[in-house]
Formats: sequence, structure tokens, C-alpha cells
Amino acid sequence: MIPVCVPLLEGKELEYVTDCIKTNWISSKGKYVEEFEDKFAKYCGCKYGITTTSGTTALHLALASLNVKRGDEVIIPASTMIATAFAVIYCGATPVLVDAEPETWNMDVNQIEEKITEKTKVIMPVHIYGHPCDMDPIMKIASEHDLYVVEDAAEAHGAEYKGKKTGGIGDVNCFSFYANKIITTGEGGMVVTNNNEIAEKARLLKDLAHSKEKRFLHTDVAFNYRMTNIQAAIGMAQFERIDELVQRRRRNAYLYNSLLKDVDGIELPPEKEWAKNVYWMYAILIEDEFGRSRDELMKKLEEKGIETRMFFIPMHEQPVFQAMGLFSGEHYLVAEELARKGLYLPSSSGLKEEEIKYICDAIKMM
Ligand SMILES: Cc1ncc(COP(=O)(O)O)c(C=O)c1O
Repeated sequence: MIPVCVPLLEGKELEYVTDCIKTNWISSKGKYVEEFEDKFAKYCGCKYGITTTSGTTALHLALASLNVKRGDEVIIPASTMIATAFAVIYCGATPVLVDAEPETWNMDVNQIEEKITEKTKVIMPVHIYGHPCDMDPIMKIASEHDLYVVEDAAEAHGAEYKGKKTGGIGDVNCFSFYANKIITTGEGGMVVTNNNEIAEKARLLKDLAHSKEKRFLHTDVAFNYRMTNIQAAIGMAQFERIDELVQRRRRNAYLYNSLLKDVDGIELPPEKEWAKNVYWMYAILIEDEFGRSRDELMKKLEEKGIETRMFFIPMHEQPVFQAMGLFSGEHYLVAEELARKGLYLPSSSGLKEEEIKYICDAIKMM
């Protein structure tokens, strides 16, 4: 089976992990945590990095550090991975949805303003499948309405918007280092920001909010979201090769594009002129002209040993939110269409040229 995504651990991962074990630094203090936070944040154009246990906890920590709470509203895309919405719910706040737009599959910036109310506190763009959102208008709307921007850059390490790294544009931004991400720590995440106060708050809240004056004295309800030194050791080894790992994802995409561009009914992944897409996943849409449905294609590919995944199911169609009375009667037509037509193909950084050719041949033989 060609898996949809596996990590590439061909750098100094084992050496650095062994170092943690030999030196006894296996918990959340240690040099790799500090180094990883510092280097990755700088790579994104930010001063401060705060590691966490996952992308999901990074999102929660970012919102909690902005004091998002019950009664607040957070604007998110309808088409995203559910962790974006869960982070809002964990804070007791309400997610408010904006449809995707058909070109980049990201949040439609033209529909944000109509969703702003006096309760809105944050806009949370998600750079879906590695393609950046159109950040200038989002930052402008946020500044005009006095809102924070929290980028969910879980899928977009190294992607660029007009030459700036995604995850370095909003006020507080979040990454995931799950094993299928462009760089991984196994499980893990990071909050990055240029705002010292928010960084301090995030550091406090991720570690049970021990007061500075006295340990075991607490003034906030906080969390244990501490990444271990072992995870950060893997992260550092991965980070040392981040440019190559991004380049490998882009190389996969170019090859897929060149082999699939003439196939009727396949819409290739976008890359706007202002964007550097990192193709976290090589995602395509199956249109009617293809002659077979997306699900039929997925089934056929599975029979040939090729693993695929359908796009995310939109937030307004999630039973968990419907049961909470959220998004009742709402429809987001582009997000719904993407969920119906979209799939992603094997996208590992270590994918071989022959494998991509085999996958494309299998698609063409449908
Ligand atoms: C857009 C987005 N946000 C958040 C997350 C959550 O990250 P994690 O799985 O590390 O909790 C993911 C994970 O895939 C994601 O794709």
C-alpha cells in the first residue's frame, strides 16, 4: 500500500533522541525544547515560540492567551479540520462560519465582514492543504474592527504569502507537528507570536499557571500542554531539513501536476501568483467530466494499493455541532462542494517518482 503520508526521519532524529535519554533530559525541560521554539519561531518571522502537545492544544492555548471566553465569537472557515472549531468551543466561545472560495479552497475573505458582530473577537484563517489564505484583506478587516487574527498554519509550514511565511502574519499563530505534517515531532504543536505579553501568557497557561512569586500558587485555570524534550529533539532534527522537506512536497506536486494536467475532470491544486503553496497534501477535485465519482475513484485506487483521503467534512455538517444547536439551517455551498469532490493523493516527502507515476497511471486507467 502506498500510504497517504508517512514521515521522513532521515536526519539526526535518532542521535538527538539518544542524547535526551543518555543525558536524562526526557521531560519538558531541556535544550531541544528551547532551541526548537527559538529556531522555528524565527523561521516564521516571529520572536517567540511556545511548544505544545499538539496542533489542537496550540489553537486552544492561542485563544486562551487572548482571553477568548464564553460570549465571544470566533470567525473560522466552514471547510477545515475540526480542531479549529473545537479550540473555540474549549474556550466556551462560539465558532461562526465563513464559506470557502472556489479558487484557493480557503476562507472567502469577502464574506468575513458580514459575520462580524459586537461579540466577535478573533478571525481564524486556516491555510488549507498548504495554500496560504489571502492575508492582506483579513489583516485589514481585523484592524478596522479591532479583532485579533490567529492563523491556523497547522498544514502550512514554510508556505508564503507575498514573500512572508504563513504563521508569521497574524497576532498569534499555530502549527501542528503530527506525523503527517511537513515537519513532525510525532505529536506536538507550537504557538508563535511577536507579542511578548501574549507569549508570556501562553507560557504561563501551558504549564498550569504557577505564579512567578510562589510555585504551587495559581491564579488562573490552566493546562499541561508541555512538549517533551524528546519530541523537540525530533523536531530539531526535522527543522534542520525543513527547506528540503518543503521542496520535496513541491516537487511531488509538480510531478503530479504534469502527469494529471490533461486528464478531463480533474481540477489540480491551486497556487495563486502571490502564494507559495507547500502542498502539505496533494489535493484534487473530481468533476463530473471525469466520468466516475470521487468515491469510485478512491475505491479503485485502494484496490490498486493506493491510499487516499476525502476532504474535510464542513463544520455545519458535523453531528457534534448540530447536537449543540450550532449552525442550524446554515449552508456553505463551496465547502459542501469541496467535501463532495475533493480527495488527496499520497503526499509523503519521501514519495518516489515511480510511485507518483504509478498513481497517475492508475487514475488515467479509470
Ligand atoms: C487545519 C488543522 N488545524 C489543526 C490541526 C490539529 O493538529 P493536531 O492533530 O496536531 O492536534 C490539524 C491537524 O491535522 C489541521 O489540519
